[in-house]
Amino acid sequence: MAQIRHRHGLNAALSQHHLCFILLLSACNSGVCSGLSDFLTELQNTLSGAITGKTYIYVGSTLELTCTLSDQWAGSWTSQQLNFFVSQPLNFQVPAREECIPAKYVRIVDSSSATLRLHHVSLKNSGQYSCSAGQTSCEREDLIGIADDVNVEYAPHNVTNFKCVVRDWTESMKCTWDHPVEYVNWNHVAVTLKSATVFSKTSVSCPHLTLISCTWRNVKEFTAAYIYVLEVNVTNIVTKDKAQKVFTIKTLENVKPSAVENLVIKSAENMDGCLNITWTHRKIYRRKIFRIRRRAVGNTNFTVLRDDLSNSSFVTCGYGPMTQHVFAIDCRPSGRHGFWSDPRLQEQREKRHDNDKSKLEEKSKRIQKEAQQSSRDIGQHGKVLTCNEIWHMASLRIGFLIPALYDLLSSNATDHFISSCKIALSQGGSCDDTTEFFKIFIQQYVKQKVCQLNQRP
Ligand SMILES: *[C@@H]1O[C@H](CO)[C@@H](O)[C@H](O)[C@H]1NC(C)=O
Ligand SMILES: *[C@@H]1O[C@H](CO)[C@@H](O)[C@H](O)[C@H]1NC(C)=O
Ligand SMILES: *[C@@H]1O[C@H](CO)[C@@H](O)[C@H](O)[C@H]1NC(C)=O
Ligand SMILES: *[C@@H]1O[C@H](CO)[C@@H](O)[C@H](O)[C@H]1NC(C)=O
Ligand SMILES: *[C@@H]1O[C@H](CO)[C@@H](O)[C@H](O)[C@H]1NC(C)=O
Ligand SMILES: *[C@@H]1O[C@H](CO)[C@@H](O)[C@H](O)[C@H]1NC(C)=O
Repeated sequence: MAQIRHRHGLNAALSQHHLCFILLLSACNSGVCSGLSDFLTELQNTLSGAITGKTYIYVGSTLELTCTLSDQWAGSWTSQQLNFFVSQPLNFQVPAREECIPAKYVRIVDSSSATLRLHHVSLKNSGQYSCSAGQTSCEREDLIGIADDVNVEYAPHNVTNFKCVVRDWTESMKCTWDHPVEYVNWNHVAVTLKSATVFSKTSVSCPHLTLISCTWRNVKEFTAAYIYVLEVNVTNIVTKDKAQKVFTIKTLENVKPSAVENLVIKSAENMDGCLNITWTHRKIYRRKIFRIRRRAVGNTNFTVLRDDLSNSSFVTCGYGPMTQHVFAIDCRPSGRHGFWSDPRLQEQREKRHDNDKSKLEEKSKRIQKEAQQSSRDIGQHGKVLTCNEIWHMASLRIGFLIPALYDLLSSNATDHFISSCKIALSQGGSCDDTTEFFKIFIQQYVKQKVCQLNQRP
């Protein structure tokens, strides 16, 4: 009886400020008051054991907490006299606002238990829940139980706005997405991404992953297969629940070319007031369209002069001696899909002699011609080329070599790149490139297969 009275007294105090009780308890736990500590720990166990129910729940679900009077209260209280309270916020820096929850949310289960049920909970329903007994509704004479903190979190949602950008057809890829909800605790959210290509046997984890992106940084990580199948899982690591969605990306439809290079603007020969703009692009064989924009120096808006050029020079006229303009050249893959490259900007310059560029163009034309020629040679099994000859021309001619190789290699070549290249060709794309991957490919196949074939007597 003495003990019960003692508990009554303590309880009355605690039910006023049960957060203080918890602070006191943690002070005691750290050894400040060892004698009282055991008693309080036991008491806390009793209090927390009195309320049962899930305390980590999702927005929109139902919070269900059952408060049960232990034998100790038999004769003092019945379940009809149980009241539920919630205090917010959960941190101790701000004094807790404690609210009584209206009785309409409480159902009597039996003579010793009552259940609080809140449907369609929102983030606002997070907090610390307790139940007390009192003569009238919302009265607290004895604290019966304290639940673990109730945390309301969003269920894992599928990611949205999933998009991928492939740099320069084959160089790298970055996919990004959004989360449709702002999770309360991002530490509880894990995002994973796996990719598979049509020809790969296993899926591969994202090489560089954040909560909102995945990046394949170079040709070792990005194989430039024609189709990428990407699975994104969003997992709540507390509950292990998952939202899982699969996206299919056609790489050739998501290409952003690199910026044009070697941009030169000079006066057109024998044409007064005309400028000859020339440039190059790293990916010689990929089909692109170029856009030329212009603005007067001091103006912020560009005017589009052309956005349908397929060759890399343009002559524009009507420039008086004292005018100054800024030109912007960018490009995108021809066809319906793809993104504009970053623009290359240049201010109009005085006439200047520049032989380097024309040399470069000449060289590229010559190599192109050679390549076409040798591609025919290989295709017809006609002229015998040495491995070294082929290899030395390889970097600029691969676009021509690849189709020719198809005729020579067994259709059953397992290298998945060849297969994806074949698909690309059948879809009107091309397979030319100068990436490291291609070089390895050429080394392997040209040396092993083509050279063998060509060197047969
Ligand atoms: C997503 O979850 C499923 C089922 O647990 C698992 O089989 C798959 O490998 C996961 N995918 C990713 C990208 O983690
Ligand atoms: C995620 O998307 C997949 C496929 O669209 C769907 O089957 C699944 O129900 C979605 N999951 C969630 C949690 O919305
Ligand atoms: C523009 O420059 C290119 C490359 O130097 C040259 O081939 C072409 O003839 C020039 N066009 C004019 C109109 O000057
Ligand atoms: C530039 O474009 C913006 C937006 O299209 C427009 O509001 C502004 O008036 C333009 N400025 C000039 C100088 O044309
Ligand atoms: C650019 O291409 C067009 C047709 O595609 C051609 O008529 C024109 O002569 C070309 N210009 C240059 C400078 O090569
Ligand atoms: C690949 O070639 C092997 C032997 O040459 C053959 O047994 C197999 O069926 C072929 N596979 C395909 C998919 O054609």
